[in-house]
Amino acid sequence: MHDPYAHVTLEAGTILFEEEEPGAYAYLITRGRIEIFLRRDGAEIQLAVRGPGEIFGEMAILDSDPRSASARALDDCELVPVSEAQIRHRLSETDPILRLCLTVVMARYRETAALLRERGVVARGDPAAAPSPAARADFDAAITAVVLERELRRALDRQEFELFFQPIVRLGSEMLAGFEALIRWRHPERGLVAPAAFIPVAEESGLIVDITAWVVAEIGRVLPGIMRAGLRNVAAIEGSLFVSVNVSGHDLARASFPGMVCEMLRAAGIAPGSLKLEITESTLMRDPASATDALTLCRASGMGIAIDDFGTGYSSLSYLSTLPITTLKVDRAFVRAMLSEPRDHKIVQTILRLADEIGIPAVAEGIEEPAEARALAAMGCAYGQGYLFGRPAPLAETLDRIRSWHADPAARRAPAA
Ligand code: C2E
Ligand code: CMP
Ligand code: CA
Ligand code: CA
Repeated sequence: MHDPYAHVTLEAGTILFEEEEPGAYAYLITRGRIEIFLRRDGAEIQLAVRGPGEIFGEMAILDSDPRSASARALDDCELVPVSEAQIRHRLSETDPILRLCLTVVMARYRETAALLRERGVVARGDPAAAPSPAARADFDAAITAVVLERELRRALDRQEFELFFQPIVRLGSEMLAGFEALIRWRHPERGLVAPAAFIPVAEESGLIVDITAWVVAEIGRVLPGIMRAGLRNVAAIEGSLFVSVNVSGHDLARASFPGMVCEMLRAAGIAPGSLKLEITESTLMRDPASATDALTLCRASGMGIAIDDFGTGYSSLSYLSTLPITTLKVDRAFVRAMLSEPRDHKIVQTILRLADEIGIPAVAEGIEEPAEARALAAMGCAYGQGYLFGRPAPLAETLDRIRSWHADPAARRAPAA
């Protein structure tokens, strides 16, 4: 079995696999050439030579039948293995018609190859014909995704993820209301990596489910401390603190998700009302039925449900009447342009009115200027989040921030003695 964290290097002449063996990996070739051949009547028949920028060993992965041929390194080679699970997950996400086509093409290809072999004819592929620019771009994108995915798995194993927390305040009074948990990757060489650099690949590969499981467990570990710190500064804190976590449609599609979160809350001794789940409209629309089931269960047990980046999805709004939503988060894009663009001002106003009509509070994201906070408060926006009130910070700093929070911004922003 391959080291899941490493490229595979092969010396010239090495056999990688034989015809009829079961296959667990396809391979992207980054260096050297691979010969594809059959052994018949004591002789070898070369079917093809594959080189850098190409993939081989894909057939056994696509249809789970045995290897259709043997593979040997012609030179010293470097390969990037792509596992069956990686390919299966992506296949399950693609268009069903495309999936059907692939099944038919694979079956036909195997039949034709078997017929030709019976007649002693082999169709020979071009020896390592240079891939087209489009194929090369696909190849490069595949390498990037496979390598990053491998690194993310290792990051999970080595505990390199960390949660930062950004304050959410009551607009007007500037009392502290809660925090949003935001993931960071403390990479041994690259330093602190922002989620935009890895969450998209985690979503594509399905690894997000493991990352969210880590986030949920970490919340269980740190939330009791956050709640305790809050109890020591009740004058500056609105009610009891809450923490929001970001979850993806892939998480909600797992039937085990609500149980996992409830179990974490129970084990940590935290009231479900102290936890909010944030989901974007687009992730909700991936599989609305299973998302609705999961969120209904979570809400029934007492958790809050926030729609993130509200107004940027392609939503029909119909989910607002079927989902148990407790908060709308106004996207930063509207807040940023609100004071200079009358149109964005109107959009913010409309979202706030909508939230008010359906009887739930709104959180405005990305507030950087006091004027923005004032305007939002005047429009009836209940809560705000943004650099004005604090950037996302690690746990230790967050605990200090809670203990020393002061509703008066002048007192809060004064440099610590
Ligand atoms: P988001 O959920 O919309 O989170 C808010 C983002 O806006 C955060 O970026 C935050 O640092 C940034 N932000 C907050 N206030 C301001 C401001 O005043 N100005 C500006 N310019 N930016 C502000 P971050 O932490 O880089 O996270 C980016 C996105 O990554 C998040 O957007 C969320 O979609 C995703 N993400 C973060 N953590 C997780 C996680 O644990 N799980 C999942 N599935 N996604 C996560
Ligand atoms: P798989 O069947 O998994 O393992 C053998 C691999 O050889 C197969 O996937 C293809 O990648 C490749 N292969 C099989 N037959 C041919 C052929 N006729 N021409 C080129 N490549 C082939
Ligand atoms: Ca969010
Ligand atoms: Ca957001």
